[in-house]
Amino acid sequence: MLNIFKKWRGSPDLSNEQIINQEELLKGEIPNHIAIIMDGNGRWAKKRALPRIAGHHEGMKVVRRVTKQANALGVNALTLYAFSTENWKRPKVEVDYLMKLPEEFLTTFLPELIEENVQVRVMGDKNKLPIHTLKAVNKAIEETKDNDGLILNFALNYGSRTEIIAAVKDIVKQVESGKLKKEEIDEGIFSNYLMTQTLPDPDLLIRTSGEIRLSNFMLWQLAYTEFWFTDVLWPDFNEQCLLQAIHTYQHRGRRFGGV
Ligand code: IPE
Ligand code: IPE
Ligand code: MG
Repeated sequence: MLNIFKKWRGSPDLSNEQIINQEELLKGEIPNHIAIIMDGNGRWAKKRALPRIAGHHEGMKVVRRVTKQANALGVNALTLYAFSTENWKRPKVEVDYLMKLPEEFLTTFLPELIEENVQVRVMGDKNKLPIHTLKAVNKAIEETKDNDGLILNFALNYGSRTEIIAAVKDIVKQVESGKLKKEEIDEGIFSNYLMTQTLPDPDLLIRTSGEIRLSNFMLWQLAYTEFWFTDVLWPDFNEQCLLQAIHTYQHRGRRFGGV
């Protein structure tokens, strides 16, 4: 029973699992779009008697490593949940720090992202971001917009319910103005009104830190995504964890309702 449970959760203790070789993994199918709920920064810090923001700082370094690895593996899009519409509820010092992180990340790594042909995107309600955060984000988007390598899509002040309601309102507006016919609305049209727009749905969703929930993340887009959960806290996530997740993905049977 314990083994079944562990398998389902992913691999909390990698030492008990088979080590995955990247070359071997590349012989199989690499997910086109990976989405990650990067969770557990606060608990990582708490375990070390550090302030929560130390966990966020450490987590940022992992973003860099995972981006590099995903790019090297040939993943086309990596969506990272960085800040939810509910995260404003946190203490002001923590929110202020989280809003400084995109600047810190992008100032330090933008040249590297450009060099690696990464295209930075941001989905979420950008209007509510502090001006300094918005500036850093817009600069990165602008300077990488012509890159055609990995799409690094940050979900920043993102909430899936808000996203869906905004899409509905936009569609209603289009219908009212006669630009769109009610009969034309289908799944494809609806998807184009979401913040992911033309990005394909994620093939693989990873959530760290042992929480088994979506926390308002990509509710529409994850309809047929494969889920992989691990107890590893985000600052401890490493290259081997990503390989484990993809390895598990490669052994799943995706049926999309068929046989
Ligand atoms: C994830 O780590 C980062 C954000 C949500 C911004 P948490 O800050 O949620 O860490 P825990 O869940 O409290 O450990
Ligand atoms: C989800 O994590 C949001 C991000 C990772 C940015 P939370 O830590 O905010 O989620 P809950 O509150 O545990 O559901
Ligand atoms: Mg959390």
